[in-house]
Amino acid sequence: MDVYTAMRERRSIGKVKPDPVPREVIERILEAATWAPTHHRTEPWRFFVLSGEGRKPLSRLFVELAKLEMTDPTTPENQAKLEREAQKPFRAPVIIVAAMEPAERDDIVIAEERSAVSAAVQNMLLAAHAEGLGAMWRTGKKTYHPKVRDLFGLGEKGEVIGFIYLGYPAIEPPAQTRHPWYEKTVWIDEDRPYRTYHLHP
Ligand SMILES: Cc1cc2nc3c(=O)[nH]c(=O)nc-3n(C[C@H](O)[C@H](O)[C@H](O)COP(=O)(O)O)c2cc1C
Repeated sequence: MDVYTAMRERRSIGKVKPDPVPREVIERILEAATWAPTHHRTEPWRFFVLSGEGRKPLSRLFVELAKLEMTDPTTPENQAKLEREAQKPFRAPVIIVAAMEPAERDDIVIAEERSAVSAAVQNMLLAAHAEGLGAMWRTGKKTYHPKVRDLFGLGEKGEVIGFIYLGYPAIEPPAQTRHPWYEKTVWIDEDRPYRTYHLHP
């Protein structure tokens, strides 16, 4: 599949089949991730591949974090909510947790390390699409809780950048639209203050 087709066709797929994904397919996706650009070549990405029972610790943590937001977790409504949290990691047979562990160097900018891992995630999403898989980059507020970082044994400055849910598609991807590039783009070829140019309203 050529790269333009992959970029154009790739869609987030929130519902996948429970069928296992062969290990060699996952390995190809991880390999694709590692070819992302990385400033200073720090390669700040770290991956955790969760499947089967390996999804349970994440499930327990989702419940624990949801409970922290509740005054009374025992109400029927909250019990149902906690059950939904517990089930979340089981929505896909595989979750690749894409994490960032910044290099211990004075010239490192954390935002750049995050950007490198985000680029690695996009490589994975495109590779997953080329492999006929459905993928969904999931996050949410709880992703950035220190307990998530601790669950994966990341350092103080480490972060989870995304939970990439993977599996064979169970649905047709929902149609998507995008604003055209020309609404988001200004062509500048004169020497005048940039703020005097205006984007499409
Ligand atoms: C940083 C990031 C976090 C995301 N987190 C979630 C999420 O928690 N839940 C979700 O349903 N989609 C999440 N998405 C996927 C977006 O919903 C999706 O990309 C968007 O709807 C556009 O659809 P498309 O990917 O099919 O083009 C996330 C995307 C990004 C870039």
